[in-house]
Amino acid sequence: MNEQVDAEERRVLDVYAERTKQDGDAYAWWQADVQIQWFRHAQALARALQAAGRQDLSSQRILDLGCGRGAFLRRLVGWGANPRQLHGFDLQEGRITAARAIGPADIDFRVASGFRIPLDPGSVDVVYLGTVLSSILDLTYWDKMATEIGRVLAPGGDLLVFDMRYRSPRNPNVRPVTPALLRGCFSGWTLRYQSLNLVPPLARKIRWCPTLTLLLESVPFLRGHCMYHLRRSESCDV
Ligand SMILES: C[S@@+](CC[C@H](N)C(=O)[O-])C[C@H]1O[C@@H](n2cnc3c(N)ncnc32)[C@H](O)[C@@H]1O
Repeated sequence: MNEQVDAEERRVLDVYAERTKQDGDAYAWWQADVQIQWFRHAQALARALQAAGRQDLSSQRILDLGCGRGAFLRRLVGWGANPRQLHGFDLQEGRITAARAIGPADIDFRVASGFRIPLDPGSVDVVYLGTVLSSILDLTYWDKMATEIGRVLAPGGDLLVFDMRYRSPRNPNVRPVTPALLRGCFSGWTLRYQSLNLVPPLARKIRWCPTLTLLLESVPFLRGHCMYHLRRSESCDV
């Protein structure tokens, strides 16, 4: 199994190396559609954390798996999380180097895989996966990651998953993340979710008119992402 996991990690690294060349500034922070999505993400995240009873972030031990350059954890620090209690792991060395350069210095940013998380059992309260599962095409590896998440989460811990709802017409290297797939993978966990964000191809096309974006995103089936909240119960499979 270890060789297969190595191969899956290499596949993801190759896909991202290629994609980084193609993306240009489509997802740059100054784009109006990216700003709107980031705001909607904050709203959905705040709602999920509040529903989970985790309003006081200062005491929470949080792992961002597939953390990229660390923007999610920096957002939580802005909301009161203690950098010393935060871990950000990613397969890509370049992204971890960038995350460390931006900081804060006390966050544990490391090159590490979600298939073999270098943390002790039950050592985190919340795990976040931001558009990570959609990068993993073979569901066998979802199960592998789910087992690792189940191992490191404390009893009663929460998993937040932000990801795409629909197949991408232009990117064969991603797959949608649906409630049914998550239920299959995290059997026995409770699941709640909300949709958000106008589907990205349309949002990019009309980024010159934020008012139109806000109008269209009020139509539920035009929303391209979901924020999922899964809670691990004390007696479940994973
Ligand atoms: C689409 S990016 C999202 C990055 C970040 N979560 C965000 O929302 O900006 C997905 C990230 O997951 C990472 N990733 C994919 N599979 C992984 C794995 N098995 N272990 C750790 N990181 C992984 C990729 O390297 C990439 O940085």
